[in-house]
Amino acid sequence: MKPPRRLHIKSYGCQMNVYDAQRMVDTLAGEGFVETANADDADLVILNTCHIREKASEKVYSELGRLRVMKDEAARQGRQMSIAVAGCVAQAEGSEIIARAPVVDVVVGPQSYHHLPELLARAERDGRALEIEFPVRDKFEFLPPPKPETIRARGISSFVTVQEGCDKFCTFCVVPYTRGAEVSRPVTKIVDDVRRLADHGVREITLIGQNVNAYHGEGPDGRIWPLGTLLRRLADIPGIARLRYSTSHPRDVDETLIEAHRDLARLMPFVHLPVQSGSDRVLAAMNRRHTVDDYRRAIDRFRAVRQDIAFSSDFIVGFPGETEEDFRATLALVTQIGYAGAYSFKYSPRPGTPAADLQETVSAQEMDERLERLQELIDSQQSAFNKAMIGSTVEVLFERAARNPGQIVGRTAYLQPAHVMASEEIIGQVLPVRIQSLERYSLLGELTALPQSRPAPTVFSTPSEMTTGA
Ligand code: 5AD
Ligand code: SF4
Repeated sequence: MKPPRRLHIKSYGCQMNVYDAQRMVDTLAGEGFVETANADDADLVILNTCHIREKASEKVYSELGRLRVMKDEAARQGRQMSIAVAGCVAQAEGSEIIARAPVVDVVVGPQSYHHLPELLARAERDGRALEIEFPVRDKFEFLPPPKPETIRARGISSFVTVQEGCDKFCTFCVVPYTRGAEVSRPVTKIVDDVRRLADHGVREITLIGQNVNAYHGEGPDGRIWPLGTLLRRLADIPGIARLRYSTSHPRDVDETLIEAHRDLARLMPFVHLPVQSGSDRVLAAMNRRHTVDDYRRAIDRFRAVRQDIAFSSDFIVGFPGETEEDFRATLALVTQIGYAGAYSFKYSPRPGTPAADLQETVSAQEMDERLERLQELIDSQQSAFNKAMIGSTVEVLFERAARNPGQIVGRTAYLQPAHVMASEEIIGQVLPVRIQSLERYSLLGELTALPQSRPAPTVFSTPSEMTTGA
């Protein structure tokens, strides 16, 4: 038997990349690869890249510089190290990577991960291999499911892709080009995936997609199901305690989704609903296809059915043409909505997007200032939201042993980390916790109910909260 080969994957960017990295591990497990935490002793290193902003993209080339040194060192020791670039930079700049970085053996776009074994063989034979097509067949049909022990090792919270790509074409965004047109997976496939995860200890599922609430997958009844109907079906699967979904577009908030929040206790009352700007003028220039008022109305519809619902969002400051007045409108919207948290970014022109042709009007210094003002406001809302938990009793889904001995950490409905002193048997359980204090972003508390006795799964990891899309 051949010894196992070691695989190291470094992922950048969004939840979809975290999920895709796992699918690549599952695909390559069939080829005798096992994961290693270190790049330097790996036989194959995959950089799973992000193209959303310039900063994210630049990381690829500096990382490839470091990998070249490691690859040379491996060769000196008589070992072969292969290097693959996957993800959205691979999709957007595939041929350029091949030309610019001779160290790279394989370039593979996000729609072709099931071809990785073939591409590695081709690289071995021909020196290099590149695949960045959008194939006609759904890659999910060919991606092998994870093994039971792999599911357990990955912990009690799992992502499941239900939709990929985006048809919205916001003028600043690369997603429609790197991830392609919107495609939804059929309901039965998703149900099978979730069942399998639940059978092996997963308690929380986050449905992911670049524009997840545009989901329109084929249902078992032959009709097209929207996201709300899918969530209703998944809420019935035994073992699943919590459901989430990300990332949503304000325009695609339909009645089935609102009704799902009204009716499903397992659907967490925490919604990531990016708005990008609080100015109608900027929203139009961004081609967001919604106004500030449409956004407020969408928020109100959620709030009408679930009083305890909280929101997070994404913002871009310094979009071409954004005036101080436009920016103030963003601050006013944030003040009015009141977020539990939000991500904010400086506008970064992306080659090939319509906005890249617009004259930039906001200086680097103004952009920095606006970002700082916005982040200050968001931070104050986030701390107020977290502080408001002190003294209340909230349900926590426990995930893993914390760094401090004796402590177990889990998450509230709003994804806040919460720590208690308890034994590891509470891992995987949802239990009420009286919150006593707040330390930076972590809540500390005590259990108010005794855990049920049941064997706990073994090793745990926390999902990334970085988002992409919508
Ligand atoms: N510049 C800055 N931020 C961007 N985002 C997407 N494209 C850009 C860009 N060109 C942000 C949006 C999106 C999040 C994932 O990244 O806020 O919602
Ligand atoms: Fe699509 Fe979101 Fe990108 Fe707009 S920002 S194009 S909705 S992924």
